[in-house]
Amino acid sequence: MKKNVIIGVCAGIASYKTCELVRLLSKDGFSVKVVMTESATKFVSPLVFQTLSNNPVYVDMFSLIKEENPQHIDIAQWANLCVIAPCTANTLSKIASGICDNLLTTVVCALPEKAKVLLAPAMNECMWKNPLIEKNVEVLKSLKKYIIMPPAKGELVCGTYGQGRMPDVTDIYKRIKGILR
Ligand SMILES: Cc1cc2nc3c(=O)[nH]c(=O)nc-3n(C[C@H](O)[C@H](O)[C@H](O)COP(=O)(O)O)c2cc1C
Repeated sequence: MKKNVIIGVCAGIASYKTCELVRLLSKDGFSVKVVMTESATKFVSPLVFQTLSNNPVYVDMFSLIKEENPQHIDIAQWANLCVIAPCTANTLSKIASGICDNLLTTVVCALPEKAKVLLAPAMNECMWKNPLIEKNVEVLKSLKKYIIMPPAKGELVCGTYGQGRMPDVTDIYKRIKGILR
C-alpha cells in the first residue's frame, strides 16, 4: 500500500537538497505532501515542491479550505511518517517545547501516536553545539516518537569546517524506507 509522507521544510540553506528527496520519494511511489515554514519559502519556491510532489504545498495555517477539518488535522491524520529536512535550530526547539505557532509545528504536534517524526537538523556548528539546542535534541531523543539523524561533518556554508551539514539525501531516503518497511 502507498505510504504517506509529510516532508517539512525549514529555512535552512540545505533546503535546496530537499527537492531531490521529494523527487526520489515521489518516483518510488510514496505519496508526499510538503509543508514549508513561511521563512523556508524565501529559500525554495513552493512551486518546485508542488511540481516534484504532484501535490499542493502547505504553508499558511489559516488559508481558507473546503475540507471539514482544519488543514493541520487533515494533513497530520493522513501521514504515516513526518520528515523534517532540513530542520532548523528554531523549529527543532519549538517542537521540543510543544510550540505550535505555524502550520509545520502544529502538524507535528497533531500527528497520530503511531506516526514517527524523522528530523534531519542542519545548521552552523556553533548552533548545533549550543547547550540549549543540545538540551532540546536530548528532549526529543528521550521520546520514542522522534528520530534524529545528526548533522554530518564537512564544509559548511558559512565557510567553516564542522558538524552541521544535513545528512546526504540518499541516507535520509534509505532511513525513510527503513522506518516505513
Ligand atoms: C542564508 C541563511 C541561511 C540559514 N541557514 C540556517 C541553517 O542552515 N540552519 C538553521 O538552523 N538556521 C538557518 N538560518 C536561520 C533561520 O532561517 C532562522 O532561524 C529562521 O527563523 C528559521 O525559521 P523556521 O524554523 O521557521 O524555518 C539561516 C538564515 C539565513 C539568512
